[in-house]
Amino acid sequence: MTLTFPPGFLWGSAAASYQVEGAAQEDGRTPSIWDTFSHTPGKTLGGDTGDIAIDQYHRFRDDVRLMSDLGMAAYRFSVSWSRVQPTGRGPAVQRGLDFYRSLVDELLAAGIQPALTLYHWDLPQELENTGGWPERETAERFAEYAGIVAEALGDRVEFWITLNEPWCSAFLGYGSGVHAPGRTERLAPLRAAHHLNLAHGLGAQALRAALPARAQIAISLNPAVVRPLTQQPQDLDAQRRIDALANRVFSGPLLRGAYPSDLIADTAAITDWSFVRDGDLAVIKHPLDALGINYYTPSLVSAATSDGPATRNDGHGASEHSPWPGSERVAFHQTPGERTEMGWTVDPTGLHELLMRYTREAPGVPLYITENGAAYDDKPDADGVVHDPERIDYLRAHLAAAHRAIADGADLRGYFLWSLMDNFEWAYGYSKRFGAVYVDYATQTRVPKASAHWYGQVARTGEVADA
Ligand code: FCB
Repeated sequence: MTLTFPPGFLWGSAAASYQVEGAAQEDGRTPSIWDTFSHTPGKTLGGDTGDIAIDQYHRFRDDVRLMSDLGMAAYRFSVSWSRVQPTGRGPAVQRGLDFYRSLVDELLAAGIQPALTLYHWDLPQELENTGGWPERETAERFAEYAGIVAEALGDRVEFWITLNEPWCSAFLGYGSGVHAPGRTERLAPLRAAHHLNLAHGLGAQALRAALPARAQIAISLNPAVVRPLTQQPQDLDAQRRIDALANRVFSGPLLRGAYPSDLIADTAAITDWSFVRDGDLAVIKHPLDALGINYYTPSLVSAATSDGPATRNDGHGASEHSPWPGSERVAFHQTPGERTEMGWTVDPTGLHELLMRYTREAPGVPLYITENGAAYDDKPDADGVVHDPERIDYLRAHLAAAHRAIADGADLRGYFLWSLMDNFEWAYGYSKRFGAVYVDYATQTRVPKASAHWYGQVARTGEVADA
């Protein structure tokens, strides 16, 4: 059977500035927290950094041509804040803005729709030096930065995403410490979550003020699909706790204008949430024109069985510090089934579940899958061809789940593959290849894998054929 997606369904790929650009010190760019973190010994696998990455800063014209050859209709990229505003404050650097203008113009000339993410984890180091996301001022600075980028690119970019996966910024960055800035605290992640929410709301206001009416403003979340190990009350409570800290800490204020009362109770020993000021929640509940969902794999939880701290093996890196303040005793288990190179179980039912959940929770808000994909240990064969049948299977199964969600009533408008090209996978450095295009890091040669040709065919026809 062939699955046909609705006409106009947007097919694209996604990437992030620090993972692909390189040129870390060029044209006035200053270090972000990821530069500092990756240059700190022991923080990334093999000490890998994004200094060069896949050099898209210099190779974007070739990369856009490749996207166009493959039939991509959209490209989701992110702006490096410290390239545009090196101190995170004050006037913008024109050369930084010019780079993004050139990238956007190249995309538009190729008939590829740009989808711009303002923040994909690379906070200017200067703003971390004054406290980072746990501080309210960072949200205010973000709004100023959003306005600068909107003024510069608002005439040519229609799809705007404020933040990528604020859960990772807050809880991996300030809780487990496996992401930059690598802080391992309990209060800081909760303060960071709120100030990221506030940054979204203030940023959305700044975008609305600067952008033409046709522009769409969205946020990309990575909601967890949390399943209980058993139906015992203590495991259902573990599920509820993680759902609060992974999902409802964002969807509560964004969609309903309130933090969930169970979250506030679960974290009462850490904070009274008095950092939430009058009026913040109304700002955060700014109307969304679209909601981005990033999905890779589900989580399986239970009440802790021992006294040891439970780590979250979510593939972003294990830590002895928990990213779950107030719910440290929840245990995470490997879900059954086939796994990708990240150790993530392949389970497309989770994608369907999320799309249906947000269809209910965000009625009237169009959904986009802003990331989905898989890492495998791909290598060119003797003829230089890269066969990646597992990735094709992964994508086919997840697209089938997305198609089923549309049939079940989800207003899903597009799909962005993570990622078009292999790139810097955060704490895993270059060891994990998520690309549909193989990158030889020594020469920067790009070799489309079998999945790139397969996905290109999907993008051109809007059809997913059975295996
Ligand atoms: C997501 C990130 C993205 C990439 C994928 C594999 O959490 O947003 O940058 O690392 O995971």
